[in-house]
Amino acid sequence: MNMQVEQQLAVSLRPMRWWDIPSVVELEVQLFPFDSWSTEQFWEELAQPTRWYVVAQDELGRVVGYAGLFLLAPDADVQTIGVAPQMQGLGVGRVLLQALVGHSRQAGCRRLLLEVRAGNIAAIALYRAAGFTQLSRRSRYYPDGEDAIVLCLSLTAAPVNAHLHTDSKGDQR
Ligand SMILES: CC(C)(COP(=O)(O)OP(=O)(O)OC[C@H]1O[C@@H](n2cnc3c(N)ncnc32)[C@H](O)[C@@H]1OP(=O)(O)O)[C@@H](O)C(=O)NCCC(=O)NCCS
Repeated sequence: MNMQVEQQLAVSLRPMRWWDIPSVVELEVQLFPFDSWSTEQFWEELAQPTRWYVVAQDELGRVVGYAGLFLLAPDADVQTIGVAPQMQGLGVGRVLLQALVGHSRQAGCRRLLLEVRAGNIAAIALYRAAGFTQLSRRSRYYPDGEDAIVLCLSLTAAPVNAHLHTDSKGDQR
């Protein structure tokens, strides 16, 4: 996979490998300061055959974003998605999400689901722009008491134009 993010951005996507974990964890603690996944958790994720992770890298090979899926057809779940603070707002998140949607379709899944903090305006806007709709709300789902919004994208319908977990650990974002 070598998807060009935007013409002016020399960012490409490739599968996440174990040697990416230190860079990913470095971003993780910035992006999710209150519930970061540890190095061990990413190792566990990559070891699972039901998981699929990608990283976005810049022209120097630095990891500037990452995203992952839990695939158990007919459903797939977005495990995580994050973009380096200095790279946010440039389209990287959208391309990472497109990759997750495309892979879920290829894997034969019929729905893509995710949980997001009710106050995460940027992420909710990203998902809605990609065609996700709200399935439910989980009251006080997160340890700090914030609600979770459960969003769903049907993969059986035609893809939303170009704009386009209840996993085993139960700790989706
Ligand atoms: C959510 C996140 C991944 C978005 O990545 P990004 O690369 O900044 O997003 P993009 O530049 O691709 O934006 C795509 C769309 O998302 C929405 N969006 C992104 N940032 C936004 C913001 N700050 N406010 C409102 N909408 C926003 C917009 O609809 C945007 O489309 P537009 O630019 O055409 O308006 C990024 O903000 C992030 O890493 N946040 C911290 C980690 C996190 O919360 N992850 C989600 C867990 S569920």
